[in-house]
Amino acid sequence: MERWVGRVALVTGASVGIGNATARALVQHGMKVVGCARDVDKIRETAAELQQAGAAGQLYPVQCDLTVEAEIRAMFDNIEVEHGGVDVCINNAGLAAKGSLLSGSFEGFRTMTDVNILAPTLCSQLAVQQMRKRGVDDGHIITLNSMSGHRIYLGMAFYGMTKFAMTAMTEGLRRELREMKSHIRATCISPGLVETEFAIRMNKDDPQKARDLYASTQCMQAKDLADAVLYVLGAPPHVEINDIWMRPTEQTT
Ligand SMILES: NC(=O)c1ccc[n+]([C@@H]2O[C@H](COP(=O)([O-])OP(=O)(O)OC[C@H]3O[C@@H](n4cnc5c(N)ncnc54)[C@H](OP(=O)(O)O)[C@@H]3O)[C@@H](O)[C@H]2O)c1
Repeated sequence: MERWVGRVALVTGASVGIGNATARALVQHGMKVVGCARDVDKIRETAAELQQAGAAGQLYPVQCDLTVEAEIRAMFDNIEVEHGGVDVCINNAGLAAKGSLLSGSFEGFRTMTDVNILAPTLCSQLAVQQMRKRGVDDGHIITLNSMSGHRIYLGMAFYGMTKFAMTAMTEGLRRELREMKSHIRATCISPGLVETEFAIRMNKDDPQKARDLYASTQCMQAKDLADAVLYVLGAPPHVEINDIWMRPTEQTT
């Protein structure tokens, strides 16, 4: 990870869960991390904690609602002014709204489309533009996909559709980057069950259901995913890890 010290990473969805653990890990490894989410106070708390602990890098909190194109563009403009541009873009923010294809709400489908597909697509495009503008040829786009991006889980088919799109996006980015003779790398990470706020938010009318799910098996933790991000970033520049499938050992599906 030495070559990333002092470089700039954007982590979307850095307020809680996998994004928060990833932002912490990258700051501990000396990176300048711009962490964004709607609940910016939680990121501020993490930034203060890291600073107090004497972390090698720094966390810069930014409030951004990823359903709003103008907010994403303004965030990238500010990163360029404040830090020169992004070297690593971690598309982490995501959600699942409850409901099957045949009965789910259109509003839920739209929010998942905005946050899980359109936002990572735009962030990837703007990140690569900032890298190319500065001649950065070793940048990295890392996207939190899911096992749902590889098989359909009954009751979560639309969420799965958004994650299949991340499988396609990662390969599409890889192909386009190779075509332009760039060495910028594209990776997705596809976890099974991780104990975060994810299932609690999805079952907000019945949060106990999510707690029971997390208690029913030994889940992966957010830090396990942050470790995977470090592994992907730390691979030598001539190695591009394209996808990591990882599940709790006890998970059967
Ligand atoms: N947990 C799992 O079992 C699991 C499994 C497979 C894949 N994943 C994927 O892993 C990623 C991270 O999930 P997680 O488990 O860490 O979930 P989480 O604990 O629910 O965190 C989700 C993050 O996304 C952010 N977010 C949601 N909507 C947003 C919006 N409109 N604008 C900006 N930020 C937004 C949230 O921040 P604010 O609410 O503060 O905006 C939060 O920081 C997601 O892409 C998810 O699909 C998770």
